[in-house]
This record gives sequence, structure tokens and C-alpha cells, in this order.
Amino acid sequence: MTLYGDFLDESHRRMHKWHQYFPAYETHFKRFQNRHVTLFEIGIGEGGSLQQWRRYLGPFAVIVGLDIYPRCKQVEEDQVHVRIGSQTDLAFLAGVVAEFGPPDIVIDDGSHLQPHVNATFHFLYPLVAKNGVYLVEDLHAAYWPDHGGGLRAPASFIETAKTVVDAMHADYVADGAGRTPEGDRTTSVHFYDSVVVFEVGERRVMQNSTTGNPALFSNEWAPPGHTTDSFHHVVAEALSGLQVPGPAMQAALPAPAQDLATELQALQTEVTLLRRSTSWRLTAPLRAIGRLFRRRASPA
Ligand SMILES: C[S@@+](CC[C@H](N)C(=O)[O-])C[C@H]1O[C@@H](n2cnc3c(N)ncnc32)[C@H](O)[C@@H]1O
Repeated sequence: MTLYGDFLDESHRRMHKWHQYFPAYETHFKRFQNRHVTLFEIGIGEGGSLQQWRRYLGPFAVIVGLDIYPRCKQVEEDQVHVRIGSQTDLAFLAGVVAEFGPPDIVIDDGSHLQPHVNATFHFLYPLVAKNGVYLVEDLHAAYWPDHGGGLRAPASFIETAKTVVDAMHADYVADGAGRTPEGDRTTSVHFYDSVVVFEVGERRVMQNSTTGNPALFSNEWAPPGHTTDSFHHVVAEALSGLQVPGPAMQAALPAPAQDLATELQALQTEVTLLRRSTSWRLTAPLRAIGRLFRRRASPA
């Protein structure tokens, strides 16, 4: 069964979803199928999506719907639990976590008011189980002032998600600026049209290595008939015949030409350094042969 096929089936309670969400759901939820998982969905509507999660995740899933309207209690059924309260009521949320345990999946499809979305995220995200997923949908509302959002508005949840991206990279920033507990437990953040998904892990080990045998690749190798194509050699060859204007001549040049002259000077300094390098000396015979051929080919 695909989730999208299931969504189009009319036999369940009503639900409302934008069609572009289904590939994101499949990408991030598939691994939970037929496992002992707990899913919280904030915002029940008429209960169709709770039924869908139950069918999709299978017989071991615990589905918990949260909504402010007591009428939503009517959609409780086997595996599907409903608790009534606001997503901004942190004591209510804490009680739900105490009752059902840390959620593996959280879907925020509640009020879509940006202060609500942010408050719920900051409280619930640290409580999501490791290897879990936190998905916020209908984030077009993050661009709507009447929902507390707007393009680059500080209160927009899209901006919050961007700060998590920055926080994930805090170890690469001077003094670890921007590091947060949320960033530390995030392994990836995925932006889709109107949906953001956070994959939950734990602080990563900062490690990188170069492996393999360096003898299996030569930077000086060139195909027969070519000189080496290393970037530095190509640049050095191109610049080797150019004259850099001296300071007096540079001062007399128009501004754009002065910039070019400065750039040329910097490149020629680099060439000089390269020419002192071992690889340059080793490839000298090849360049000499190349010059010889060019001289012979050019008309007298
Ligand atoms: C878009 S509907 C949910 C639709 C449902 N998830 C579906 O896919 O069909 C939004 C729901 O959020 C609920 N809601 C609004 N404000 C809320 C709040 N502060 N806390 C919890 N639920 C809220 C509404 O009562 C409504 O049922």
C-alpha cells in the first residue's frame, strides 16, 4: 500500500493533506512500518489521518492524536488514542509524553500559528526518541502575517528550522557560536514545499579521514601529447608570457585596469612560488619540448 493510494480511498474518515506531502511521508516514515512505534499527531480534524497512520504503520503502532476540541474524542479506536488540550500547553504535552512515552514520530498539523508551532517544537523536540522524526506541515502559513509569520519574519518556523541548520554546524564556527541542544541531536533537516522534517539522532563524532593508497593517483600524470593538467600548471603556463605593469604605469591606468593589474600581480607571485616547487621543476623538460614545438609550428 502506498500512503498516497490510501489517501485517495474514500472509505475512511475525512482528512486534508496537500498531495506533495506524500513523498516526504514515505521517505521519513517508511522505516517505522510494522515496528513498535509511537506517533503523535497534533491536530486531528475529523480523524482520517490518524486512521491512515494506523493502517500505514501497522499493528504495533500507538497513534496519539492531540486537539483542542473535545469532539475529537469520537475518533478513538483500537490503537488510536485522543487527548484533548492545546499544543501550547506544555503541562498538557508533558502529561501526554509521561503517559505514552517519548514519541518516535511527531507531526505538527495543529493551529499553524507560528508562535504555537515554535513553542510545541521547543518543548517536544528534545523529547523525541533517538532515530525519531519531527515533521511540521502546512508551513506556507510561516509566510503569512495573520499566522504570525512572513518572509524572513523572526517568528516564522522556517526561520527556526534554519537556526537548527546553523546549530548543526556550530562546531565549524568560531567559538562554536550558535550551538544548541536542538542542533546537537539533529542528524538532518529536510525542507519540502510547506513541510520541514528533522531527523533525530545524537551529537555527532567530529571526525574525518583520508583513506586509500596515495600511490594510485598522480597529480603530475598527463595523457600522451599533453602537459600535466594540474590547475596550477595550466594557470602558470597561461601567465608565463604576460608583463605586469610597474607601479608608475599602474597608477596611470583607469580603475578597472588597475584592478586587473593588481590581480595579475598576485597571480604572478603565485606562479613564482609554483616555479620553485618540485613538481614544476620535474615537468620543466615537458614544457621545454612544448615551447620548441610551438616555435616550430608558428610562422617566422
Ligand atoms: C488542519 S486540521 C488537522 C487535520 C488533520 N491532521 C488531517 O490531516 O486531516 C487542524 C486541527 O488542529 C486543531 N487545533 C487548532 N489549534 C490547536 C491547538 N492550539 N492545539 C491543538 N490542536 C489545535 C484544530 O482543532 C483542527 O482539528
